[in-house]
Amino acid sequence: MADYQPAETTFAVDRDCKTLSRHVLEQLQSFSPEAQDLSALMNRIALAGKLIARHLSRAGLMESVLGFTGDTNVQGEAVKKMDLYANNVFISVFKQSGLVCRLASEEMEKPYYIPENCPIGRYTLLYDPIDGSSNIDINLNVGSIFSIRRQQGEDLDQTGADLLQNGRQQLAAGYILYGPSTVLVYSLGQGVHMFTLDPSLGEFILSSENIQVPSHGPTYSVNEGNFWQWEESIRDFTRYVHRHEGYSARYVGALVADFHRILLQGGVFLYPGTVKKPEGKLRLLYETAPLAFLIEQAGGKASTGREAILEVIPQAIHQRTPLIIGSAEDVALVESFIQDHNHRRQRQQ
Ligand code: AHG
Ligand code: MN
Ligand code: MN
Repeated sequence: MADYQPAETTFAVDRDCKTLSRHVLEQLQSFSPEAQDLSALMNRIALAGKLIARHLSRAGLMESVLGFTGDTNVQGEAVKKMDLYANNVFISVFKQSGLVCRLASEEMEKPYYIPENCPIGRYTLLYDPIDGSSNIDINLNVGSIFSIRRQQGEDLDQTGADLLQNGRQQLAAGYILYGPSTVLVYSLGQGVHMFTLDPSLGEFILSSENIQVPSHGPTYSVNEGNFWQWEESIRDFTRYVHRHEGYSARYVGALVADFHRILLQGGVFLYPGTVKKPEGKLRLLYETAPLAFLIEQAGGKASTGREAILEVIPQAIHQRTPLIIGSAEDVALVESFIQDHNHRRQRQQ
């Protein structure tokens, strides 16, 4: 009897068996309690992603999915019904996890506490439940951004003060991008990996490992409608790319979607400070720091224009930072315009 020869299809079957929770344990090369916790936490993130993807896929057919709630959130932004739905999905999913004691969200002024989890749940989820909300009603890309940090101390006054630390404290970070396919991109500090949702299986399947951002790319991604509000250095960068061959403008209006293109194809995304928002629009703890964690793992850079995003120590949970993120060479080019202007300003003083 000849030895059994596995058929070529084994690769596809093996790949479909590489679930996210398995991948986490492989990443950490450990079955320690913390590794098991992170594996379970990532599984919960995946479940939230599946629930949100399902809701989005039927948005036009169901009541109370599209449109605004009529409320304004702590950011001063009009809340979409989908923002609220997704915010609650993460709360429900993590309530049942037993692992998370606090959730800090773009949509909630203060962290949400799950007291029954606190004695055991030593982790905090920081998240932007729907990023790119302006795209929901027109069926364009939106995302969810997440960051997992260890809780430090008892936080008895429930202010989440221990969260006000730099982005290098993150245990895990990533995003879910809802598009033609739903992808989950994450890192535990051991490289950046992408999973693609197979709706027929209801599983996220590994689709790319150890993603490295190209050192340079043609894309610059910025809302040029804010040109009149920018510092001269950012205007000079924009004039430079307007006058040199090899640059292409792409802007989806959802940070996760614009970032995903940069991660895979190179280039630079900018959301600089403006006259109205000198500190920029994007929030550090659940937008710029998680993506900065990813891009550094992928060999790229993330800067406020003056310092690395991952070095910034927030003074408040909803603190904003300017963001320049992407290929190392392209971020450095933007920073060089900022440095030139700083030197000129110093010489004039
Ligand atoms: P959110 O929908 O979570 O508030 O995030 C929107 C952010 C970000 O996704 C995007 O890059 C940026 O807002 C777009 O802002 P502008 O419309 O001002 O360009
Ligand atoms: Mn956002
Ligand atoms: Mn949001």
